Amino acid sequence: MRTSVRVVLGAQFGDEAKGKISDFLASDARYVVRSGGGPNTGHTVVLPEGKVVLHLLACGVLRHGVTGVSGPGMVINPFQIHDEIVDLERRQLLRGHVVISERAHVLLPLHELEDAWEDDLRSKHDPAAGIGTTRRGVGPAYEDRYGRWGIRMGDLSRPAVVNERLTLLYARKAHLPNLPARDELAARLVEVGAALAPYIRSTEGLLWDALARGEPVLIEGAQSALLDIDFGTYPFVTSSHPTSAGALMGSGIPPTELDSVVGVTKAYCTRVGAGPFPTEESGERGEYLRRVGGERGATTGRERRCGWLDLVLLRYAARLNGFTSFAVTKVDVLGGLDSFPVCTEYRMPDGTVVRDAPPFQASELAAATPVYREIPGWPAIHERLKERLRREGPSALPAELRRFLEFLSDETGVPVEFVGYGPQRDETVRLDPATARHPAPGLSAWTG
Ligand code: IMP
Ligand code: MG
Repeated sequence: MRTSVRVVLGAQFGDEAKGKISDFLASDARYVVRSGGGPNTGHTVVLPEGKVVLHLLACGVLRHGVTGVSGPGMVINPFQIHDEIVDLERRQLLRGHVVISERAHVLLPLHELEDAWEDDLRSKHDPAAGIGTTRRGVGPAYEDRYGRWGIRMGDLSRPAVVNERLTLLYARKAHLPNLPARDELAARLVEVGAALAPYIRSTEGLLWDALARGEPVLIEGAQSALLDIDFGTYPFVTSSHPTSAGALMGSGIPPTELDSVVGVTKAYCTRVGAGPFPTEESGERGEYLRRVGGERGATTGRERRCGWLDLVLLRYAARLNGFTSFAVTKVDVLGGLDSFPVCTEYRMPDGTVVRDAPPFQASELAAATPVYREIPGWPAIHERLKERLRREGPSALPAELRRFLEFLSDETGVPVEFVGYGPQRDETVRLDPATARHPAPGLSAWTG
């Protein structure tokens, strides 16, 4: 049997309900791997027992028989991941196995200080230069990783290494005000390292062996294409690679193992933090999306900026990541509207038209004028329709909604495979890829 690696990625600016789609697909997987990012992430999963927001654990930990791997590409706050494990245990929701890569880097309290210090410095220099980071320390932790000042999760069980590396790091951070006492931090790191020791290990071989046995692996991306450090709206981006290439790098799985890449997009669009957002609606209609969509950050509680689906960005994300299908989420939020706009291309200030890729400079993207097409809406997705969707599957999707999904496929060249119509775990329908307009190769290899 062919091995099977599926990647789930955000196709916009984050918060596309990836957590829900990953959790849905985790039912088919034996391993779920988080490949990048850190506590900037908030993956929301709604279980019958209540809502869970995962920041550092992979969603596989919520399922019996599944191993959730916090992978090598991540930056991990060890105190926070410890709390996350304890909290899930207390709520009796830790059903799978937790594994943490020894190669993941340690995000320290001083990185949080530094994150705030850096973004304040940018804003002081120029109010428009602030990125509006989540202030969870993610950028500075990656800075230290690539500057080779970092401490890795596997170091935590080696007190001499912790002391050595921390002394070096403190010499590097002398410019930061209010650093926590070094010896005290070292002691706390060793202590939390002991508590986490049962979970920390080499994870590459674990996944290679699983693939050799033919066990399906799901890689759960965090953040999203347009926040990629290289391909996003730089400098208004995160410090990792939330792309399919990054998913492989951050998990140690070779590209030849990859079967399928699911891009998750909302039926509209949101963004948190600063940076260009051509289809943003600052007025009443934006407020409508925010209210009906519950668009508030799962990590920081900040209100999300809201606007319309942008096909230029989606086409770009599709080509960058090689999406083999889309998961379209939150279609219920648009339910009951007579019609709504979708951006099909940009008109630039010099009169040129852009269809396939956003301009290089963030300021140029901000100056783009979206060209909209008005799409007929579908009926409100009330309980009775949800019941039918659960029972009958995709055949119960309203005709207008089907036409919108076909329009999206035609405009991007990527079939829609999943549709999320509510926050609950089971409020997702899977379309038969064989009948999708653009059947993607490799989908049948997934043993779902
Ligand atoms: P950082 O990742 O905390 O450095 O933040 C950089 C930018 O990415 C900011 O605009 C954040 O709001 C955004 N960002 C980071 N993580 C997420 C996420 O999980 N969802 C949405 N936006 C995010
Ligand atoms: Mg989120």
